[in-house]
Amino acid sequence: MVKPAQPEPEKLSRGDAHGAGLSEVRSPAVNAQLTAGPRARVEVGDWLALAATLDAQSVDFVYADIPFGTGRVHRTPAGANRVASRVASREGGGAGGADAATFDDRFAGPAELAAWLRARLVVTLPSVRDSGLVAIHCDWRACAHVRLLLDELLGPAAFVNHLIWSYGLGGSSPRGFARKHDDILLFARRAGAHWFEAPRVPATSARLRGQSKKMTDVLAIPAINNMAAERTGYPTQKPLALLEVLVGACCPPGGVVLDPCCGSGTSLVAAARLGRDAVGFDVSERAAQIARERLWAARTADRGLLNVGPMARPGTR
Ligand SMILES: C[S@@+](CC[C@H](N)C(=O)[O-])C[C@H]1O[C@@H](n2cnc3c(N)ncnc32)[C@H](O)[C@@H]1O
Repeated sequence: MVKPAQPEPEKLSRGDAHGAGLSEVRSPAVNAQLTAGPRARVEVGDWLALAATLDAQSVDFVYADIPFGTGRVHRTPAGANRVASRVASREGGGAGGADAATFDDRFAGPAELAAWLRARLVVTLPSVRDSGLVAIHCDWRACAHVRLLLDELLGPAAFVNHLIWSYGLGGSSPRGFARKHDDILLFARRAGAHWFEAPRVPATSARLRGQSKKMTDVLAIPAINNMAAERTGYPTQKPLALLEVLVGACCPPGGVVLDPCCGSGTSLVAAARLGRDAVGFDVSERAAQIARERLWAARTADRGLLNVGPMARPGTR
């Protein structure tokens, strides 16, 4: 019997845009569907080594939520909720094992942390477009050191904002004001050349009733609470609402977000939901698994437009 003619499958090679790790064959129809929307990939490894694989001038927005230098080894609690548990059970670890160590946040001090960051930014900056932005998310421990480092690498004139993420939760101290914010330092790759679209919020004054106004540099967004649906159990996970503000403001539609310390993948999911491509790195295999799982779930939730393909699909690299 003569078989009906089949369209030639397309071979995707490692050289395709965002296609690192791709080597399988797909039909043109499937391929067209998979390339219809934003694309995301997650790589496991050290930011230092992986940054060297990025093309020059290929990234619009770098968001790096770096280790804060807390002196702790962060652990994912046993029984961490849905996403982490699903990932862990597929890995045969039953909720990842009790208090599985997730990432090491021990540095000798903020100067050592800044040196760690310096080495990685030096390799990463050539990949950032001239119109791009770089955001480093840190806290009171290393903020001053990171600011000086960015001044040195990008120039003081490239400073755009010192954002305060005011998250509400947290303890209090009898010996000082309660620390209830993180710091996000935003610099342009080239002073004065960056793309930016100010997010808008509803105006509160009676004079502007019913209108919107530009968001300020104080981002009052609650931290993820224990019952939040988006909670994965990954330590230090940031709220999607925060990352949607940052990605929407700092990366043009259709642009590329790089998160070289992506953890549970919050920035990658924000990028995908807002129609930006995303590349995530993390040294932790566990983080990458959770990030891929979230991207896969976002693909389903967001009308199947997200081409996470085999790059972000859980269980693949
Ligand atoms: C503060 S957490 C990021 C949390 C993330 N923003 C989220 O919402 O889940 C920092 C991440 O940096 C990762 N990390 C630490 N050292 C790294 C390195 N050398 N290269 C890549 N990732 C690293 C850790 O594994 C951790 O997931």
